[in-house]
Amino acid sequence: MMEKAAAAGRWVVVMVLVMAAIFEGTRSLNLCDMNDDGILACKPSVSKPNPVDPPTKECCKALKGANLTCLCSYRNSLLLPSLGIDPDLALALPAKCNLTTPAGC
Ligand SMILES: *[C@@H]1O[C@H](CO)[C@@H](O)[C@H](O)[C@H]1NC(C)=O
Ligand SMILES: *[C@@H]1O[C@H](CO)[C@@H](O)[C@H](O)[C@H]1NC(C)=O
Repeated sequence: MMEKAAAAGRWVVVMVLVMAAIFEGTRSLNLCDMNDDGILACKPSVSKPNPVDPPTKECCKALKGANLTCLCSYRNSLLLPSLGIDPDLALALPAKCNLTTPAGC
């Protein structure tokens, strides 16, 4: 009886964690005018240890429509690493797509 209750309790904890992860995911899936497709397309190019270089056409296209000024403001934030994105690689990305990184970035 006790064991069953404990197991149910663990299940609830797992569910809450999963739901938090999903919520966190949806919330972050629109980053600086980049939608989830764009982020997914760029992710291989901004993840260590083996970034894809040069980035894919899909990634550059998404980046073109992104707010790079906004992206810059995330350079010291923990948000990028929490998404598995390396900030240094992320900020080097526009140049690799022949886009100009905003001044002061
Ligand atoms: C881009 O982001 C910056 C900082 O978040 C904001 O001030 C600016 O208005 C945005 N520009 C566009 C075109 O959305
Ligand atoms: C960027 O420009 C260089 C030189 O013009 C070119 O060789 C390269 O293919 C371009 N890269 C992209 C992603 O457009």
